[in-house]
Amino acid sequence: MAHQWRGVIREYAERLPVTEETTVITLGEGGTPLVHAQQLSALTGSDVYLKVEGMNPTGSFKDRGMTMAMTAAVAAGAKAVVCASTGNTSASAAAYATAAGLKCVVLVPEGKISMGKLSQAIAHGATLLQVDGNFDDCLDIARKLGESYPVFLVNSVNPARIEGQKTGAFEVVDWLGDAPDFHVLPVGNAGNITAYWKGYKEYSAPFESITAGTLAAVSTRTPVMWGFQAAGAAPFVAGHPITEPDTIATAIRIGNPASWETAIAARDESGGVIEAVTDEEILSAHRWLSAREGVFVEPGSAAGVAGLIKKHAAGEVPAGKTIVITVTGHGLKDPQWALRTEDGSEVQPVKVSNDVVTVATALGLEEK
Ligand code: F0G
Repeated sequence: MAHQWRGVIREYAERLPVTEETTVITLGEGGTPLVHAQQLSALTGSDVYLKVEGMNPTGSFKDRGMTMAMTAAVAAGAKAVVCASTGNTSASAAAYATAAGLKCVVLVPEGKISMGKLSQAIAHGATLLQVDGNFDDCLDIARKLGESYPVFLVNSVNPARIEGQKTGAFEVVDWLGDAPDFHVLPVGNAGNITAYWKGYKEYSAPFESITAGTLAAVSTRTPVMWGFQAAGAAPFVAGHPITEPDTIATAIRIGNPASWETAIAARDESGGVIEAVTDEEILSAHRWLSAREGVFVEPGSAAGVAGLIKKHAAGEVPAGKTIVITVTGHGLKDPQWALRTEDGSEVQPVKVSNDVVTVATALGLEEK
């Protein structure tokens, strides 16, 4: 019989800080497709897979962390939650707070979040404040609110978020049968690279199961982690925080990542890199994904693919390997970019009269 996915907490309960008594707040997140990317595989000579996180309930990977954070908020007796966000975290927090019956406050940088994400937060009834500042300023305020006011912080500085998001790595290994050789992903606030690395490490070690005793490691290895930032918002490449981050990929427009040390550890322990890709390279990868692979993502989500293509061009991608790229959020979050052609002009759909011959002519078709 077909198996109904139960959300990441119930699927991976033994490996998460929950018990049978825990009240689980879930919208059925996780269990996302691992799509074999035919054209990227042909390009590189490696087996390239896309972990399509846009298939989560609110359209991004944030839901994996938010089910845990909201479950923790309820366990702590919180009445309200707060987060800073470039958009996806706020959309997720708003939806999960609704499911939990909690109030939700979100702080977003004014004018710098996409319409899809803004409307999600509003639709789910969050109190949304647009701060005259960037994401880093919003996070600063959210942390202070969490410390000194009766609101529960659900940003990824909350360890519950990282716990939930590490399930992305579990799913990759469970699907492939072992860890990939490389794991590639966009880096913004650096929670996700931290979480994947934690998940991969845990799966490569023996596990003390409460019900089954000591279990052997699930995977035989851990992947090399490759993170990519937008060139205008690349503090890890600069080696220090950036005060005025700028990129069209608003999801990763972050200058002072909260998970700095753990991201550096993921990079260095795995023998990986965190490098930068330009906005043009991001938009080109965005176009590659939609036009060649059939996968529609938001621009920030394409940074990992942009990085792989760039490294391939530099001769730095070995053939014959298994490569997984997390594409983090759905294209419908920020759809306007699909309507821009390579030369920057707007795509204008062709208008035709209501008549089959005119339509056939416009299509260049001849009658059979
Ligand atoms: N991709 C998307 C679509 C994102 O929304 C984010 C982060 C990232 C990648 C980077 O992940 O921060 O874990 O390194 N978005 C956050 C937000 C900051 O507020 O939605 P990270």
